[in-house]
Amino acid sequence: MNSDIEKILVSEEEIAKANERLGKELTEEYAGKNPLFVCILRGAAMFMMDLIKHVDIPMEYDFMDVSSYGGENTTTTGDVRIIKDLDTSLRGRDVVIVEDIIDTGYTLDRLVKLFETREANSIKLVSFLDKPSRRIKHVKVDYIGVQIPDAFVVGYGMDYNEHYRNLPYVGVLKPDVYSTK
Ligand code: IMP
Repeated sequence: MNSDIEKILVSEEEIAKANERLGKELTEEYAGKNPLFVCILRGAAMFMMDLIKHVDIPMEYDFMDVSSYGGENTTTTGDVRIIKDLDTSLRGRDVVIVEDIIDTGYTLDRLVKLFETREANSIKLVSFLDKPSRRIKHVKVDYIGVQIPDAFVVGYGMDYNEHYRNLPYVGVLKPDVYSTK
């Protein structure tokens, strides 16, 4: 798998540092609020599990599965489908949406609007990666791990056709991988 990677964009050390910093910030912000962290599957799973080890207050978490990319596509369609909804009521809760990457912003924009209708007390966003150059929907992301340039990335939870999620770092695939898989 490593041989399919052209370049490492975010190393394991940088990932660990970002998680520690974000965890501290969230600990301060949400002390006494019993926040509900909502992990957006499947890409954000690895990030959330690392992040919450640094959140040193009582909290809960739940999972939601949405999809904005289909099969071979590496560009967004703007269409977000809910595949698995939450089991937890959001009414009156302080919600932290945990995403792997914000690209065009369609996914988070749609989710924030949906969560507002569910009467959450507050909604904040944390995204491990930010690709600001491709933003179409201007969503306010409250906490960002690392900003990256416009490249399709894999690893640390993120996939290309469901593969590469288990890489412990974030990297860019070699161009020939797209043409051969
Ligand atoms: P957005 O709706 O365009 O902001 O895209 C958000 C979702 O698209 C993320 O949660 C990812 O699942 C996926 N995505 C966007 N960019 C990448 C990438 O570079 N690699 C893998 N998945 C990506």
